[in-house]
Amino acid sequence: MSTNKILSVNNLSTQFVLPDGTLKAVDGVSFDVHQGQTVGIIGESGCGKSVTAQSIMRIVPKPGHISAGSIEFTKSDRHTTDLVGLEKDGKTIRSIRGGKISMIFQEPLTSLSPVHTVGDQIMEMILLHNTKDKHEAKDIAIDMLDRVGMSNPQLRFDELPHQLSGGMRQRAMIAMALSCKPSMLIADEPTTALDVTVQAQIIELLQDLKEQLGMAIMYITHDLGVICEIADVVHVMYLGKIVESASTKELFHNPLHPYTQRLLASIPKLGASGKGTKLDAIRGNVPVPLNLPPQCGFQSRCNEIIENVCDLKVPGLVDMGNEHYVRCFLHSEEQEKTYA
Ligand SMILES: Nc1ncnc2c1ncn2[C@@H]1O[C@H](COP(=O)(O)OP(=O)(O)OP(=O)(O)O)[C@@H](O)[C@H]1O
Ligand code: SF4
Ligand SMILES: [Mg+2]
Repeated sequence: MSTNKILSVNNLSTQFVLPDGTLKAVDGVSFDVHQGQTVGIIGESGCGKSVTAQSIMRIVPKPGHISAGSIEFTKSDRHTTDLVGLEKDGKTIRSIRGGKISMIFQEPLTSLSPVHTVGDQIMEMILLHNTKDKHEAKDIAIDMLDRVGMSNPQLRFDELPHQLSGGMRQRAMIAMALSCKPSMLIADEPTTALDVTVQAQIIELLQDLKEQLGMAIMYITHDLGVICEIADVVHVMYLGKIVESASTKELFHNPLHPYTQRLLASIPKLGASGKGTKLDAIRGNVPVPLNLPPQCGFQSRCNEIIENVCDLKVPGLVDMGNEHYVRCFLHSEEQEKTYA
């Protein structure tokens, strides 16, 4: 794998200013994405995964805004731009969005218009970013529909999204997202709404296209099984922060944060009946990140809480070596100092 860094997110914070206070959806997040790498982002609902992606694409909806940090994107000419510094809907971000960094969603109709044919929508993207020649754009669009496994791509080209099955719509969205050969694809729960067989096909397709196009993927999900299969490195998010980062192998073999350990324990295992069973779902819910006191965000759900430590201070990210980082007082000198 190449070690060329294409994205560097540094201390990113994104907030929503609401009548009840400031909701810290993303709170000091840092991570890198290298060319050809698959970076997994996991965490329960409300942990800030999608807002992190929206921040990179600069599509955070109002009343949200990026309040701190930088998102450095390096183009193929090695020129680096801080996406945070760009005008929100200006020319530069519009040329990067879709052209250099693309995004796919759980619901294809988020990016596909229901009233335009699949082919016209893919062509529009190509004409915007790639070529001005309509015949060439059509050829590229049909080739892309073929690559994503659409049967009879010429026919599909003229169909409306609602004429396609859920799995085929997902493939059409992938074709549109990849039609300009972006250097990075952000996939936000792209298979959650699909049945298991179609989900497996789409994941295999993304893996194939990643190899063919040499792009990086940032894959967001709460499905650890999927992450285990496709990601090179994993960042576990909880309450707007990264609480653990490691290579996928290291994270699955040696999870250190109590949250990661509980997530892993909650992976459905195949029982004797052949049906998946939830072993150990985590009690309680992710709190709303509004007016939070200075303490560990996981303390209300943690079985290993250290009194007068975890409830009084916010743990920092501790470097455990071997590119493994964890945000927990069980692994920091703070605890040792307190008990010394
Ligand atoms: N448009 C918005 N306005 C106000 N709050 C928002 C908005 N979008 C997200 N949030 C809040 O920001 C926090 C992070 O949300 P986010 O959508 O990033 O979670 P997520 O990890 O993607 O969850 P899920 O797995 O359900 O998609 C949550 O507390 C959420 O309620
Ligand atoms: S810092 Fe304390 S409360 Fe937070 S996860 Fe670690 S042990 Fe649990
Ligand atoms: Mg989300």
